[in-house]
Amino acid sequence: MLDNALMLLRAITWLPVSSPELSPLLLDWLLEENSMTKRFECHCQKVTVAPQREAYISAADIGDEGRLLPQESRYWLREVVLLGDGIPWLAARTIVPQSTLAGPEIALRELGTRPLGSYLFSSAELTRDFIEPGTLAPLWGRRSRLRLSGKPLLLTELFLPAAPLYLNLSSEGTD
Ligand code: PHB
Repeated sequence: MLDNALMLLRAITWLPVSSPELSPLLLDWLLEENSMTKRFECHCQKVTVAPQREAYISAADIGDEGRLLPQESRYWLREVVLLGDGIPWLAARTIVPQSTLAGPEIALRELGTRPLGSYLFSSAELTRDFIEPGTLAPLWGRRSRLRLSGKPLLLTELFLPAAPLYLNLSSEGTD
């Protein structure tokens, strides 16, 4: 199941923020700029990270997303599932060009069960080039290109069916 969730990340269709399908409530989740782990913590007792894969991959393995990153011979791949009280809420894939791992960012290779956000949001040097919403009907996702001290990484996230994002969406517009 968790493997499948990560495969789904590659099937997301990316949408402009102005897309009429994106309600204000949905955008409020998808364009969240702070830590998603922290946001999830408001909806459960405990958020945990289940790493599925942490490994170097080649340029040929990253597919389409390569267009959004500098061309390099290898990239660090981190695939995790985030669980709220033990239930899968989010599948996430982070692709880090090897050159981004220079200096303190080498820590990105050693995260294990530590949430990525605990590293990103403790860095004074975090900037974001874009956040792009996406859908894999009926699910929602997003991808962001972030920079640490100017060095890029790409984070793609898919909100799984039990995620709190979906709790209020079904009542939207029905009054
Ligand atoms: C991660 O630890 O890789 C991670 C955590 C939370 C997210 C995305 C990725 O929202």
